[in-house]
Formats: sequence, structure tokens, C-alpha cells
Amino acid sequence: MRLLCPSILSADFLNLGEEIKIIEESGADIIHCDIMDGHFVPNISFGPDVVSAVNKISKLPLDVHLMIEKPELYIDKFIDAGADMISVHFENNYHLNRIISQIKLRNCKTGIVLNPATPVSLLDDVLGIADYILLMSVNPGFGGQKFIPAVLNKIRQLRKVIDDRKLNVKIQIDGGINLDNIGVVCDAGADMIVAGASIFKAGDKKSVIQQMKEFISKK
Ligand code: DX5
Ligand code: ZN
Repeated sequence: MRLLCPSILSADFLNLGEEIKIIEESGADIIHCDIMDGHFVPNISFGPDVVSAVNKISKLPLDVHLMIEKPELYIDKFIDAGADMISVHFENNYHLNRIISQIKLRNCKTGIVLNPATPVSLLDDVLGIADYILLMSVNPGFGGQKFIPAVLNKIRQLRKVIDDRKLNVKIQIDGGINLDNIGVVCDAGADMIVAGASIFKAGDKKSVIQQMKEFISKK
């Protein structure tokens, strides 16, 4: 079963509680929280206090995507705040096995993220230790960017490797997903679809979520 993960990065922060209620009632499966530190990416978003506030008002699982330097220093804070899933970037982790173990020790699901320019082949030796792989379809840092079509081939490649090796690893895709490309992303083999601006900047969020859910529930 594929899952829809709205990213609250593009939500109206003055009305975050209301925004979350709408997406929850419309059928969102997971809340994606984009954490940016102004170093790993050229933007600053929010931290564990906001995640904790979201956790208090929502029953949905919280998926924390860390786009920060030294993520190992903040893992426990985000898990204490209510994270159910945490993903860390391949590109800034010299000790990936260590940080994955650190997250797993706290019974939290773990994802490894690849930027658009990082090849899937680099995952060969770590694929078995992750619960999910997040393939970025934009360069991380901002919501509302344009989907990079070359990532479709990376989804297909990764799908094949996971299926050939019979691994229990999910594929998450993040960046520039909208009603025009969600179908092709699903067909390529994605299991979890992140979408920010296309949901939160829409006039009718409920209708967008429901249409997205129709796409992702097709075989
Ligand atoms: C980008 C973030 C994404 C992004 C998704 O750095 O990781 O989660 O906010 O938002 P859209 O769907 O607007 O690209
Ligand atoms: Zn993200």
C-alpha cells in the first residue's frame, strides 16, 4: 500500500493546527517534517519544539527529514519530540551505520536520503540497514521547486535492486510532486509520496489529497 506524506514546510504556520486537521481529515497517511539548519541547505525551517507541538495535536506518524549538519547531535531530541521515522542524508554522513544504529536503538524507523545527483549504486552496502530510502526529486532546501525528471530512472533502478534482493525497504520520493506527475512517480515504483506546495498552496487541499490518494491506490 502506498502512502501520502504531506510536507508541512509549505503550510500556513500561523494556522498550523488547522492545516494539520484538514490534511488528517482528508486522508493524509504521514506528516513529513522538513528540518533545515541554514548550513547543509541554504534555508532554515523549524526544530523539535514544532515537531512536539504537531505530535500533540495529530495521531498521524511523524516523518522527520533532517537536512542539517551533525544530525547525530539532534536525533534524540527529535525522537523525544515524537518522531516515528527519521531520515538522514547520505551526503553528509561519514559514519552512516553508526547514526542508523543510533536511530534504531530508540525504536524509530530509519531512512537514508539521496540528493538528485547522488547515484543509487552508492547504497549497495547500506540498503539492508534502512527501513526506507528517500530519493530527492529537487535539490533540498525549499518547497515549491520543480520536479527533476531524471530521478524517475533512479526510482526504477532502486525498485529493481530492492525487488531483486527481496529487501523490505520502502522508497520515498520528495520534491515537486503534484497531480500531473504523481502517477508516473507511482508507476516508477515509489511507495511513499511526499508533497508540500501542491497540497498546502492549493485552494482546496482536501480535493488535492483525495485525488492524490486515488492515484496512489491504483496498482
Ligand atoms: C525540500 C523538502 C521537501 C519539500 C517538498 O528540501 O525536503 O520535503 O518541502 O515540498 P514540495 O512538494 O513543495 O517540493
Ligand atoms: Zn523533505
